[in-house]
Amino acid sequence: MNISTPPSLQDALSPQHLDNPYLIYQRLRENDPVYWDNKTHAWIITGYEYAMMILRDARCSSQRSLLSLRSMSEQRLQQMAPVLSVLSRQMIFIDPPDHTRLRRLVNKAFTPARVEMMRAFIQQLVNQLLDTLQEKEHVEIVNDFAFPIPATVIAQLLGVPTNDQKQFATWTDAFGVLLDGSPHTEEEMMQALSLVADFLDYFRHLIAERRNAPQNDLIQALLVTEEQGEVLSEEEIIGNCLLLFAAGHGTTIYGISNGLFALLQHPDQLRAVQSDPSLMTAAVQELLRYESPVQVTSRQAREAFMLGNRQIAAGDRLIVHLGAVNHDPAQFQEPDQLDVRRFASRNLAFGHGIHFCLGSPLALLEIEIALTTLLTRFPKIQLTSQTPQWHPVLSFRHLVELPVNLQ
Ligand code: HEM
Repeated sequence: MNISTPPSLQDALSPQHLDNPYLIYQRLRENDPVYWDNKTHAWIITGYEYAMMILRDARCSSQRSLLSLRSMSEQRLQQMAPVLSVLSRQMIFIDPPDHTRLRRLVNKAFTPARVEMMRAFIQQLVNQLLDTLQEKEHVEIVNDFAFPIPATVIAQLLGVPTNDQKQFATWTDAFGVLLDGSPHTEEEMMQALSLVADFLDYFRHLIAERRNAPQNDLIQALLVTEEQGEVLSEEEIIGNCLLLFAAGHGTTIYGISNGLFALLQHPDQLRAVQSDPSLMTAAVQELLRYESPVQVTSRQAREAFMLGNRQIAAGDRLIVHLGAVNHDPAQFQEPDQLDVRRFASRNLAFGHGIHFCLGSPLALLEIEIALTTLLTRFPKIQLTSQTPQWHPVLSFRHLVELPVNLQ
């Protein structure tokens, strides 16, 4: 890339910048924090203040079409209509007033007390995972440590049998294909949709079981949740169970592994949290700011409006680059420095506004327990000579592997 030509978002994926795409985001922001990108055919927002405006603005709708579906013929879309109808009931794709009702009802079941009740379970799970790793000198963190944590935890919380981890992974990967916005063939999309249909059937079956024999779990709580005479429909429960499962899966794996990688690259910051574990709660926020697992989210303009001096037209797509926004120097001093003592809770790693991550208390608990326990139990942990590689995707920032020496 010639230094004088303005960069493009895609430059962040070049081998030269993949390790540190923030230089590209900085140049994009300095050039124009709200710019039209011809490749993605959308407005790209890299400035913190503009991101906040969009995420708070009722004119910016979350009823985004699943972009990946564009490759599918009308006939195939018709064939998959029942699955698509359930997916469209997921709160992340819904605007008020429906979103307000749905979120309020799910919140009544997904309570802080229910999340807190998971603390002992998460601690025990992390201890067990580390027991299996402790004999090994070299360990790969992404798959051998981070991967099993979120799926096991959400399965336990929902009341889904935990003995079918591989099946869950296949299903959540298929859901990821629908969401990732990258080009897929019609065959790939059909395959992903039919796997997602199996996932939905699986939940349908669990709900039928709960109707016959009530249990003390989240699925049951969703079934009986009620407010002012309103309840969740079966389609809404199924769609949002899948969302809880899928939205918290990869994201939390990346939260744990990106966070550990950042600490291992900054020995002074690592020493700070090791010598004072009470710093870890703030450190997790900073780690999520520094290498945000969810890099982008999007909205669609319902009507024309001005954003700064930009004229946004009705129907325009707006991509809020959370990763870039979390490195905006107008909001975070020396944003490219990792500082575990920074008060970073204003970061947008979990979004902002009415769609702010519903699972953030659970994610924060999982990441904090995972990192604190790992670093306490293996204080000499360090990177191996093999340099970890990042996946070349814009949607989620995550490592292919993170090999470490534990002893
Ligand atoms: C929404 C990030 C973990 C469930 C979101 C959004 C972000 C996000 C950025 C907002 C999307 C938007 O505005 O379009 C993350 C990150 C996580 C994480 C970085 C881990 C580090 C979880 C977990 C769960 C979860 C563990 C559930 C168990 C949800 C749900 C929504 C959501 C249901 C939709 C909320 C709504 O539309 O009202 N998440 N998430 N997330 N997340 Fe998370």
